[in-house]
Amino acid sequence: MELQSNFSLKSFNTFGIEAQAKQFIAVHSVAELKTVLLENKTNKKFILGGGSNMLLTQDIDALVIHIDLKGKKIIKEDENFVWVESQAGESWHEFVLWTIDHDFGGLENMSLIPGNVGTTPVQNIGAYGAEIKDSFVSCEAIAIENQESKTFLKEECHFGYRESIFKNSVKDQYIITSVVFKLTKRNHKINISYGDIAAELAKKDNTNPTLKDVSNAVIAIRQSKLPDPKQLGNSGSFFKNPIISKKDFEPIHAKFPEMKFYDISETKVKVPAGWLIEQAGFKGKRFGDAGVHKNQALVLVNYGNATGQEILAVSRDVQQTVFEIFGITIEAEVNII
Ligand code: EPU
Repeated sequence: MELQSNFSLKSFNTFGIEAQAKQFIAVHSVAELKTVLLENKTNKKFILGGGSNMLLTQDIDALVIHIDLKGKKIIKEDENFVWVESQAGESWHEFVLWTIDHDFGGLENMSLIPGNVGTTPVQNIGAYGAEIKDSFVSCEAIAIENQESKTFLKEECHFGYRESIFKNSVKDQYIITSVVFKLTKRNHKINISYGDIAAELAKKDNTNPTLKDVSNAVIAIRQSKLPDPKQLGNSGSFFKNPIISKKDFEPIHAKFPEMKFYDISETKVKVPAGWLIEQAGFKGKRFGDAGVHKNQALVLVNYGNATGQEILAVSRDVQQTVFEIFGITIEAEVNII
């Protein structure tokens, strides 16, 4: 463990934004994490995982603690299921590939999502018809205040669409150190209901896909639509898809009958923000080094040297224009720091 001062976070955030941490330390075990928390009780702290869901708009005037806990293992199994535990600092995609290599099912639709395992419960990541809550069992966390360990069971996490207790009632109080998932060993529930996956598999005439085939299809789709952060800084979907009551949606839909939407309950619909942003004319638009991705309007990108403030300005312009045209508010999904 080495404490560093005025540390550049450029390679620690997938947007590739230049910002400095007043102090920075990487922890490699729960014991190290507890020590750092105890020794810095009164200092301002900022917890950094994979840096894939944040936009840095300023330097961080705090001790940045980078969670670099590694390791994954099988902790229990029966005839049909296996319980696997991953430490928080493992790359999510590498973890997913490891489960697929073992022929464990449940996470394949979430291949290639950037970020680390420890942050996946915070916003209940999801893609192509799957969310981590479908396979999540529990996570271990350390209370920042008193360094006590706590297990959060699935029911306690209050998972919703890109939501959990960690973004709400216990926000900034705990650091997730490991996560347990329950996966299938046989009778895998292959889920190819999402149109894009079905189309990708149909291209190969694959009517009986394996976990690996589904993962490869998802990887191909993501690579065709979503920029690789190593080549073009980004944070995945910058905005959430807005959820609107059917009552409010009716007059909007009457005015814009071509608007796409999905029923999500008796009373609510979800509208794809990417569609709204594209219709508002922003898809592929560039403002200096900040812009809206050409293949997926939900994604804001950094062409090289954009500042966080410049990306933020584009996001506000997008939000305002979408609101002026459609009367729909779209909220950021990424954390704006
Ligand atoms: N659309 C457009 N223009 C665009 C983008 C999308 O018209 O530029 C339309 C598409 O034609 C489609 C609809 O919007 O009808 C939905 O698009 P897509 O299937 O690509 O999914 P999304 O709603 O844009 C969400 C997640 C993604 C996830 C995909 C696939 C959110 C905020 N985003 O995107 O998650 O990969 O579904 O499941 O829910 C992420 O969170 O970082 C992320 C990439």
